[in-house]
Amino acid sequence: MKVMIVDDSQENRYLLQSVFRGAGHSADSASNGQEALTALRSGGYDLVVTDILMPVMDGFEFCRRVRTDEKLGSIPLIIYTATYTGPQDEAFSREIGADLFIVKPCDPLVFLESAQKLVSESSEGTITTRPIPTGEQEVYKLYSQRLVRKLEEKNLRLEAEIAARTKTEEALQRSEAKYKRLFENMRDGLVNTDTGGVIQDTSDSFAIMLGFEPGALKGSHIHMYLQGAPEDPERTVIAKQLRSRGFTDVHRAELRRKDGSFLHAEVRTVIVPGEQGESEGVWSIVRDVTDAVNAEEKRKSLELDLYQAQKMETVGRLAGGIAHDFNNLLTVILGYAEMLIGTNTFDDHSREHLGLIHHAALKARDLTRNLLSFSRRKLFNLSPVDVNEVVKDFSRLLERIVGEETEFRLALNPTPLVVLGDRSQLDQVLMNLVVNARDSMTKGGVLTVETGVANRNGSTGLEGDYATIKVSDTGCGMDEETVSHIFEPFFSTKSRDKGTGLGLATTYGIVNQHGGSISVNTKPGHGTSMVVFLPVTNQTISLSEGDTPEGALPDGSATILVMEDDPVVRSLSVQLLRSNGYDVIEASDSHEAVAMCASYEGPLHLILSDLVMPGMSGIEACEEIRKLHPETRVLFMSGYEEEANASRIVGWKPEGFIQKPFTISNLLDKCRQILGHG
Ligand SMILES: Nc1ncnc2c1ncn2[C@@H]1O[C@H](COP(=O)(O)OP(=O)(O)OP(=O)(O)O)[C@@H](O)[C@H]1O
Ligand SMILES: [Mg+2]
Repeated sequence: MKVMIVDDSQENRYLLQSVFRGAGHSADSASNGQEALTALRSGGYDLVVTDILMPVMDGFEFCRRVRTDEKLGSIPLIIYTATYTGPQDEAFSREIGADLFIVKPCDPLVFLESAQKLVSESSEGTITTRPIPTGEQEVYKLYSQRLVRKLEEKNLRLEAEIAARTKTEEALQRSEAKYKRLFENMRDGLVNTDTGGVIQDTSDSFAIMLGFEPGALKGSHIHMYLQGAPEDPERTVIAKQLRSRGFTDVHRAELRRKDGSFLHAEVRTVIVPGEQGESEGVWSIVRDVTDAVNAEEKRKSLELDLYQAQKMETVGRLAGGIAHDFNNLLTVILGYAEMLIGTNTFDDHSREHLGLIHHAALKARDLTRNLLSFSRRKLFNLSPVDVNEVVKDFSRLLERIVGEETEFRLALNPTPLVVLGDRSQLDQVLMNLVVNARDSMTKGGVLTVETGVANRNGSTGLEGDYATIKVSDTGCGMDEETVSHIFEPFFSTKSRDKGTGLGLATTYGIVNQHGGSISVNTKPGHGTSMVVFLPVTNQTISLSEGDTPEGALPDGSATILVMEDDPVVRSLSVQLLRSNGYDVIEASDSHEAVAMCASYEGPLHLILSDLVMPGMSGIEACEEIRKLHPETRVLFMSGYEEEANASRIVGWKPEGFIQKPFTISNLLDKCRQILGHG
């Protein structure tokens, strides 16, 4: 038999054709009713199988046309449908003349059997059930009812689909807006570069981080902002990580801002594949950690400062201790040497030797003094002084020190810089710094001494808390190792006869005692500048008055109590005073002294007392004695001037203080002065 299959789906047509052809039938096909009608008219068809929903002409219309066609009206027709499957659809199909109504999908064998049965029944004329086609109007009514129902269903389905789609779209928009906001408001920077390193996109934060307008970086190359070359070992490691596993470790990078300054960043880079899995270059997340890095550096430098200060403190204490012990020894050496020189019992030769001993002892005394000033145990006479004045007055001498080959420049701050200072000590600071600067320039150069102001954090400016003295040279400079030792006593790179290594140690001590600090800026081969910072004071400069004692006594007619626990120093002092005509009583400790004075009836003019003694201190003993002998005056001696300072705090002031080691003339001068002979 010959079958016509009408279906708009090619697959369906093919399937049915195969079924019929497989059973030895011939099968043609058409994709809509119109096409099928034309083909059918060419004649010879035994069966028509049609779908309902088709473009151009649907199955219902097609079926009606077949049935109302004179020639084709009797061909058996099967409606095979997947869309119109309700009982009303079947009834309608039958009404317009379909012989069979089969719902898709149907088992091919069952289908084939039904089709063959229909064809044979038809040829035998046994189909009696086929209804007479109803009137045109009735058909259209039924037809449109079917159609409207289908359309309504379809409409509802479409509406539901649209609602679902709108919902998805809204969700998508919301999600996109959310990610956009996140992208734009992220504090960390995001940057997308293509595989060649050209920037494709950045978050606003990334552009702002580098000092640009949002969006301004698109199209430029990332290497314009990245410090360091791509072949740097660190960068190579990063590139390797990216290649091998698609992302990098969080690593540090330095980025260059628009203004040329640098930014420390923590970066992680990842490869983000595109929708089809292709490489869209890389995304980097960049976090600005500049503040943290700076804080860390500052902390390290503070730690270093602290370490330096602690080291100097320890060395200072050691130096101070040694100096103190030396002072007693030197007092004895100097004193006896002077006494021997004063006698006539030596020949010229021996005298000369004595002179050498005396001279050496004097040098040793100077050294010990320097050590003491380093160890901050030296008492300074702090009063308001103008740093400008100090530098100006001293500059004539400095100029001579500097020598002819070196150019000496002086730049003074336009306004006075008043600090609480000790002039002679500040002179020494200047001297030490200038001599060092000169020594660094063996072939001449420029030596500059400058005064100025700086604020607390060290930056220079008009308003400041510190007066600065800057000594700079164009000399040899220093490496880091040298700088870390320069303030240590006896550290020197100079030959033994040129430097003792006490210059900067002393300077350090003096500046410290003034509440100031020193900073060093140097580079090997590029000269050095040392800046001394001294806190400014709002006290005004006044002229100090000298104390002149009243009630002078004639020379040598006084009684002096010598109170000293060191027997050698004591007996030296006693001998010295006695040989100069004084009446002397001596005591080796405070208790003995107080006891002696209690029983002594005559006037006691002066006590020469050590400050530190075992048991009761010199100060306390003198206080006791003053109660018994209010007329007495007090001259303290000590290796530590600082202790003399302490004695001033207790509420009464001794008439004098003499620092060990002293020479004979020092001591006699002091006594005379206090007793009013001088
Ligand atoms: N302006 C400078 N340029 C280069 N090196 C310097 C400068 N100032 C100090 N130094 C180095 O610091 C060391 C210590 O200096 P310091 O003044 O304490 O001792 P010194 O000059 O060697 O001896 P002294 O000052 O006791 O005669 C010097 O030996 C030198 O190496
Ligand atoms: Mg020096």
